[in-house]
Amino acid sequence: MNAIEAIMTRRSTRSYKPDSVEREKLEQIIEAGRYAPSGGNNQSNHFIVVQNKEVLQKLAKLAEEAFAKMEVTENTYSSLKSSILQSKKGGYVFYYHAPVLIIVANQKDYGNNIADCNVAIENMMIAANSLDLGSCYINQLHWLNEDENILPYLQELGLKDNERVYASMIVGYPKSADGKPQRTALKRKGNEVTYI
Ligand SMILES: Cc1cc2nc3c(=O)[nH]c(=O)nc-3n(C[C@H](O)[C@H](O)[C@H](O)COP(=O)(O)O)c2cc1C
Repeated sequence: MNAIEAIMTRRSTRSYKPDSVEREKLEQIIEAGRYAPSGGNNQSNHFIVVQNKEVLQKLAKLAEEAFAKMEVTENTYSSLKSSILQSKKGGYVFYYHAPVLIIVANQKDYGNNIADCNVAIENMMIAANSLDLGSCYINQLHWLNEDENILPYLQELGLKDNERVYASMIVGYPKSADGKPQRTALKRKGNEVTYI
C-alpha cells in the first residue's frame, strides 16, 4: 500500500481482538510518529505506549470516575457529553478494549504542543493502516489533563512534571470478518477547498 492509499483508506476502528500487536509493527508505528515534523524541529513529543492490561483498566476506571463527576450543559461538546453520560451509567471504557494505547505528551508551556502531538498521531494512524492494523484517535486523556487522580497516575507512568497529554490513539487488530480494518471512506461533507 502506498502512502496515498494508506491515507485515503484509513478509518477509525472501535472494536478490537484482544491479540497484542507484534513488537516490530508497534515499533514501526511509533517511529512513524517520531519522524513527524515538529515546530522549530523541537522534537519534544513524549510517546507513552501502554500495553499492560492492568494499567489500561486503571486508566479507564479513573477516566470513568472523573467523567461521572461532570455535569452536562447545553454547551457541552457532543463527544464529551457522550463520555460523561456513559460514565454516569457505568462500564465506560474510553479505549474500546484495544490492546495498545499510545499517549502523546509534550511540554505544557510550548506553543506547538497540540500541533506536534497531532501530526505524530496522524503519521501513526496511517502507518497502522498500512500494516493492516486498526486505530482510532482518543481524546479523553487530553480532556482530563488536570484531573486530580489521572495526572498523578500518568506521572507514575513516566509523564514529566512539565508535560501534559495533547493527543492519544489506540491500535490493534480489528474484530472484523477478515481481521482487517474497515477501509471504505466516509463521504466528505465539509472540508472546503479554495484554489487560487
Ligand atoms: C481531534 C479528534 C478527536 C477525536 N476523538 C475521538 C474519541 O475520543 N473517540 C473516538 O472514538 N473517536 C475520536 N475521533 C475519531 C473521529 O470520530 C473520526 O475520525 C470521525 O468520525 C471520522 O471517521 P473516520 O476516522 O473513520 O474517517 C477523533 C478524531 C479527531 C480528529
